[in-house]
Amino acid sequence: MKNNYLEKFEKMRIAGKLASQTLDMLTDFIKPGISTNEIDKIGYEFIRDNGGYSAPLYYRGYKKSLCTSLNHVVCHGIPSERTLNEGDALNVDVTAIINDYYGDTSRMFEIGKVSVKTKNLINATYESMIKGIQILKPGIKLGDIGYEIQSYVEEKGFSVVRDFCGHGISNTFHEPPNILHYGKKNTGQELIPGMTFTIEPMINFGKYNVKVLNDGWTAVTRDKSLSAQFEHTIGITENGYEIFTESDKGYTKPPYN
Ligand code: MF3
Ligand code: CO
Ligand code: CO
Repeated sequence: MKNNYLEKFEKMRIAGKLASQTLDMLTDFIKPGISTNEIDKIGYEFIRDNGGYSAPLYYRGYKKSLCTSLNHVVCHGIPSERTLNEGDALNVDVTAIINDYYGDTSRMFEIGKVSVKTKNLINATYESMIKGIQILKPGIKLGDIGYEIQSYVEEKGFSVVRDFCGHGISNTFHEPPNILHYGKKNTGQELIPGMTFTIEPMINFGKYNVKVLNDGWTAVTRDKSLSAQFEHTIGITENGYEIFTESDKGYTKPPYN
């Protein structure tokens, strides 16, 4: 039974690659003047043309293919006619399904020239995700991931969103366990080889409190402060981890060029 997960990993690699290639492709289009609806349409078509399907579309009544979360939107921003402006910070979250397996990844984009404050939050959010990933191996516990992220972020004076978390993912979109981005060392479930889940910290410039708008999806910071997020889909191996959603183009955090 050992290594029984290798077939699953092979499918996760394919799904993860399609999701990350979608973000790579979208990068050239994410400029001042484009609407988030246009980004959604281009992403939808790319995934479809590459043999996949956008997981968010019709998921629990969601009517778009991607999530586009701007500025104080924490997550689940719905693509709209809103066009991007110089200085905006945008998260684009792509989840692709291919051969029944899911790849889920998001990145931040700086629209034109952004403030130093915006750059600092985006950088810290990316680095916090990496800190949560670098410790991954069998035997550590879920609380260790949260601890790495939370301690790094709070040291910088930012806050970790509590109301949304990472999640198990494989041939379903969201499955156990929940991956909290805050926590205490040596607490929670122990990691074992073959587990597949996302790490997707949402980090706020101000307080961590969020509220969901009347559209039932858009989560915003209560204090209207800026929020940032990155997401990777990961698998636990015998000795460490594998990231399924790394960019072919080496895109990690902005600037992408
Ligand atoms: N991709 C999101 C996640 O990271 C989920 C989006 S669900 C949607 O889990 F319906 F809002 F698109
Ligand atoms: Co996710
Ligand atoms: Co996602």
